[in-house]
Amino acid sequence: MRAATRLSRIPTSFWAEVGQAIAALRAQGVDVIRLDVGDPDMPPREEIVDTLSAAAHAPDSHRYPGGSGAMELRQAIAGYYARRFGVTLDPAREVLPLIGSKEGIAHVALAFVDPGDLVLVPEPAYPTYRLGTYLAGGEVHVVPLRPENGYLPDLAAIPAEVARRAKILWLNYPHNPTGAVATASFFAAAVEFARRYDLLICHDAPYCDVYYDGYRPPSMLETPGARDVVLEFNSLSKTYNMAGWRVAMAVGSREAVAELARVKSNTDSGIFTPIQRAAIAALEGDQSWIGPRNAIYQARRDLILAALRDAGLAARTPVASLYIWAEVPASHTSLTFTKGLLEAQGVSVSPGAMYGVGGERHIRISVTAPTPRIEEAMRRLRAYCASVV
Ligand SMILES: Cc1ncc(COP(=O)(O)O)c(C=O)c1O
Repeated sequence: MRAATRLSRIPTSFWAEVGQAIAALRAQGVDVIRLDVGDPDMPPREEIVDTLSAAAHAPDSHRYPGGSGAMELRQAIAGYYARRFGVTLDPAREVLPLIGSKEGIAHVALAFVDPGDLVLVPEPAYPTYRLGTYLAGGEVHVVPLRPENGYLPDLAAIPAEVARRAKILWLNYPHNPTGAVATASFFAAAVEFARRYDLLICHDAPYCDVYYDGYRPPSMLETPGARDVVLEFNSLSKTYNMAGWRVAMAVGSREAVAELARVKSNTDSGIFTPIQRAAIAALEGDQSWIGPRNAIYQARRDLILAALRDAGLAARTPVASLYIWAEVPASHTSLTFTKGLLEAQGVSVSPGAMYGVGGERHIRISVTAPTPRIEEAMRRLRAYCASVV
């Protein structure tokens, strides 16, 4: 058999490789602490789990749920956007439930990208923007994100002939891996850019409800004119501690929602009905616990930042997202540092190189482990830095 040539551009998942290395260390008895994934460690609210459980016992729960999501879930998503962002969405035409946002991010390229088409992908960035483009046969034009520009792309630096050829511009704020956030004026400039060059902006916003220090991330759909040119991806994974449940949404441009729904109606058969019911409970239920949950993440963020300072590693203070983006010592690359830290101290963080060349010389540390484990990991990180710097 001969695999498709498009797969030659798709690497084996980095996480699969790290997972193997960690399994081997654990088999030798090493107590590994994982701060390399943004996977919430706290459970969802009990009411959400109870709704899933009750719905799983209902006799009508087990048939094919239908690809476009129950209207009640679309309405609950629209209700969340209205309350949280003041954005009014038509649940029938501007909302599409997803089996996790990663699913929609990968599939949207099939709806808009023909072989040879260009997609504007920032770097550093979540890898699926690039890999989804490759799966559709498209080409990536890298848009560098630089610290001196607050990790916002310089849209004016994209050559006009490149912008004219591009079908999609990917954006992601709050940003993985750097924790950077966008300004309203940047979003306005991006909408104007999309109109000028007739392209779709895919804005990926799964961290919009993980925020600190009084900052509250906006939806890009709050930007005037955005609903015609923006498809926003959002997820219950981080907002409601439901990463394993695989439920998310794409909202905004009617045209983009319809085209993505066309791909999905031919590739999946929807989200398990009890999960849809539990997602409604999450979106419509009490939201007051999110503030105290974020306060726990913020305290973890602060203890990581303090440890990095002690260790002599420079880091940004993020006001949103689950991540701290720190520089590695001059003697290291991001890969040698992460490998060394894992082997010497049993602490796993992710190397910046994973997020594209723009991420080199950095590591990403996640706040999603119990606080005592993070304290222990930081004690080990200080010891490692003292031994190598
Ligand atoms: C920027 C970004 N987008 C999308 C996702 C995928 O989220 P989901 O669990 O909704 O598939 C992640 C997960 O870490 C992410 O960091």
